[in-house]
Amino acid sequence: PTDEHLVSEGEMAKLIPTLPLETRYPRFPLRRLSGFWLPEFVLPGVAAAHARFDPRPDDVVLASFPKSGTTWLKALAFATMHRDRHPAAGHPLRRGSPHECVKFLEVSFALAGNKEDDDVFASLPSPRVLATHLPYHLLPDRVGRVVYVCRDPKDAFVSGWLFTHKAMADKQVAPPPHTLEEAFELFCEGRCMCGPQWRHVLGYWEASRRWPEDTNTNKVLFLRYEEMLLDPAGNVRRLAEFLGHPFSREEEAAGTVDAVVDLCSIHSLKKATANVGGATTTELGVRHGSFFRKGKAGGWRDHLTPEMAARLDAVVAQALHGSGLTF
Ligand code: A3P
Repeated sequence: PTDEHLVSEGEMAKLIPTLPLETRYPRFPLRRLSGFWLPEFVLPGVAAAHARFDPRPDDVVLASFPKSGTTWLKALAFATMHRDRHPAAGHPLRRGSPHECVKFLEVSFALAGNKEDDDVFASLPSPRVLATHLPYHLLPDRVGRVVYVCRDPKDAFVSGWLFTHKAMADKQVAPPPHTLEEAFELFCEGRCMCGPQWRHVLGYWEASRRWPEDTNTNKVLFLRYEEMLLDPAGNVRRLAEFLGHPFSREEEAAGTVDAVVDLCSIHSLKKATANVGGATTTELGVRHGSFFRKGKAGGWRDHLTPEMAARLDAVVAQALHGSGLTF
């Protein structure tokens, strides 16, 4: 594919039915656009975001392959960027979900449909914090600062498999008829939501390496979920510096970094009103609480055989060979 993703909103509507289709897993149709399997319902939102999103220099876009730490990154970036506006007590993250605080770019445009002509985020005060699961080359131009979180694909697969079942139950839809082995095979073929996973990661990783030498590119900070677990405070400092809002000496002395880490820990987010039981759901009908499970590294061992792990590792290693990126 060449520039098929740069089509107008009208052309996208005509293009969608012609794109390769995957319906086996998950339960919603995926279409292959520009080498990536994206949810069909999101594609009009991709064209709309290209046409209507009006980037601001201080925008922050949080990017990820699904089930790689998006919810955590949303909480951390929101808490860090808006720490002056929201003191710890009564913080929005104590009540609401990170997914209510930070919306997905392409989903918001897709859900808005043709009702609105302009940027659906126009009324959000600066600095805006947004999120995306789009691959790097499908982002609208000049989105400003991008933070990517990457996770071991084996854990992302397992997390996604378990999440899919929870999300189906939340939406009272029958669970996928496929076995874990079948879903795993599709993942290894790259035929999964936003897959291939390794190509998704590589796009952002290469972009992160181009900056700061190449000033024509978006600034990309590349974080790893496993490193964030090992050193949350260090990664929050990196995040704050990258976002142009480093912690001052006074804040360091006052323990502000640890306060952000605690506020955004899986344990405290799980207790927020929106995330308890079935309190509230996303616009797509998934309970906010379903985004929290164990939050650990290496949990794939409980679900994948060593042979399956070796197969995916080999697929990824071969695809990334020579790139310098490893897992
Ligand atoms: P597990 O299913 O392995 O536990 P995403 O947010 O991209 O959908 O990813 C979901 C994964 O991130 C889940 O992984 C979830 O438990 C974990 N997660 C959610 N919030 C977290 C947090 N605050 N800290 C660490 N991990 C978190």
